[in-house]
Amino acid sequence: MPAKLPSTGLGNERSEWFRGHFDAAQEVLDLCASSGVPVTGKRLADIGCGDGIIDLGLVIKGSPAELVGYDLNPVDTDKLLAEAKAEEGITELPGELTFVQSQPERIPAEDESFDLVVTWSAFEHVADPEALLREIRRVLSADGALFLQLWPFYNSEHGTHLWEWFPDGFAQFTHSDAEITERIESDQASDPGWGAMMLSEYRALNRITLDDLGVAIERAGLRVVRLKLITNDCFIPASAAGTPLSTLAIGGVQLLAVPA
Ligand SMILES: C[S@@+](CC[C@H](N)C(=O)[O-])C[C@H]1O[C@@H](n2cnc3c(N)ncnc32)[C@H](O)[C@@H]1O
Repeated sequence: MPAKLPSTGLGNERSEWFRGHFDAAQEVLDLCASSGVPVTGKRLADIGCGDGIIDLGLVIKGSPAELVGYDLNPVDTDKLLAEAKAEEGITELPGELTFVQSQPERIPAEDESFDLVVTWSAFEHVADPEALLREIRRVLSADGALFLQLWPFYNSEHGTHLWEWFPDGFAQFTHSDAEITERIESDQASDPGWGAMMLSEYRALNRITLDDLGVAIERAGLRVVRLKLITNDCFIPASAAGTPLSTLAIGGVQLLAVPA
């Protein structure tokens, strides 16, 4: 376990981001613990690991034998360590934690390499969810499990991921693509690079629904054994008429699946 210094804190939004993600690891661990899925001493992978903060949290809080974080983009471990030092007083990244760059439909690992595969806030961004789920099935051991968190689903209140510009939600129904673009591009308060990146992420969302996800999981040879919906009270705009209510109301999901 790495040494710890007194925490100084990053301050500002980045601190909130770090805390939110570091603490998200506990949600993974809690759902696993209450489902009888062991983590301590096990081989873990995280698919679509982003900046690796959740993975650091999982290793520190869950003590797996190893955790490999995979993403299409390389993880900046210097930045991860600097933030971990500021927020948690961590002076070196744990040896159990590594990061590997992956391809859209290829996880570079042997068959049955992992006991638990985790994925958090990634599956709405994946170009071909079923193909990636097949890869996850391939790298999972026969008695392994998949923990999948997806928030927010495209049709739900904050499904655009653009809450910074559309805090009332449902902009995908109430605004045209041109209006969305105009609002983000004319925003003087935020970094233009950030706005452009968020716009491109919005356009690339795969628009998967919970039912689509269920079908893809089943076709990939996995079976859902636990389902926790993330939902909240919301006002539905008239322009969403005709959209299935369940897809408007289900904001996200945490689920566990096992080999079928
Ligand atoms: C919104 S980020 C979430 C990152 C991290 N899990 C988090 O919660 O901060 C989605 C990530 O999924 C990654 N991603 C998208 N498609 C992927 C794929 N087919 N395989 C691996 N990673 C993928 C993206 O590169 C991006 O880093």
